[in-house]
Amino acid sequence: MADKPRLWISRRLSDATLERAKRDYDTVVNLDDTPGSAADLIAASAEFDAIIPCHSEHFSKEVAAQLSPRLKIIANHSVGVDHCDLPSLKTRGIAVTNTPDVLSDATAELAMLLMLGAARHAVAGDRIVRTGAWDFWSPSFMVGKQVTGARLGIVGMGRVGRASAARARGSDMEIHYYNRSALPEHEAKGATYHASVESLLEVADFLSLHCPATPETMDLMNADRFAMLPRGAVIVNSARGALVDEDALLSALASGQLAAAGLDCFKVEPGGNPAFADHENIFMLPHIGSATTRTRDAMGIRALDNLDAFFAGQRPKDLL
Ligand code: DGY
Repeated sequence: MADKPRLWISRRLSDATLERAKRDYDTVVNLDDTPGSAADLIAASAEFDAIIPCHSEHFSKEVAAQLSPRLKIIANHSVGVDHCDLPSLKTRGIAVTNTPDVLSDATAELAMLLMLGAARHAVAGDRIVRTGAWDFWSPSFMVGKQVTGARLGIVGMGRVGRASAARARGSDMEIHYYNRSALPEHEAKGATYHASVESLLEVADFLSLHCPATPETMDLMNADRFAMLPRGAVIVNSARGALVDEDALLSALASGQLAAAGLDCFKVEPGGNPAFADHENIFMLPHIGSATTRTRDAMGIRALDNLDAFFAGQRPKDLL
């Protein structure tokens, strides 16, 4: 029997994933669970036929140029691939796959949590109860913004955007979206299409970002665009930190143009933005949109399905 392909797994994936990987591949796992540095990735490429990385491993143009020809495929354990310089990897003849679909529900759940938490003072409310500082109640106390019946603007009506729309419909929200092209009605399900982000912003009482981070979407939400939202809007970002100009976000909150923000993604990760810490109208989570047991298993299995197809000489389902 031919030797099994050698596989490096850069982070501690779910038990089910690691079990199957070890069964089918000559697998080494980075059990330290630290992000792979450029040097780690380059070194691994000389010893392994395949790598399963996460968004924490950066295959930049410079790294891609130094990868060994031994490495045949990068089967990402993520839907986002902004950590991979795809043209450079393509030039090197390295196949790249991702894990779409399987994390849409978990991420949409989290987007809803961020929206509700931001709109209803979850940070300040939790703090005063937890610290024993809750010594007052009044009908005018901690009054938030109601989600039910409000207009939700979705930027990027892909799988996660549509899963978020489905949850928002459960709250009777009026769904508007911007996408490169309008969706067929069986996918739009009554949502109103906007041909420009600007047109969408004008009606977005709540704005939820679901587009990929690319050079074109860098700082998509900047000072000019925050100013186009209805006053007192709430922004939710469960996609990528690169989409938001964080200084402009702070200014929009300070002026009252934005009432609140719900963020799972930041320009700097891990870590986030220390300037956000004093703002209790920013409800924050540490990039855990897809972090449920079921979804982690599904992401690992999907990455392995892509590898299996590749090494069987077939086109992987999620080849980019
Ligand atoms: C993704 O899949 O892109 C998530 O952000 C987790 O990496």
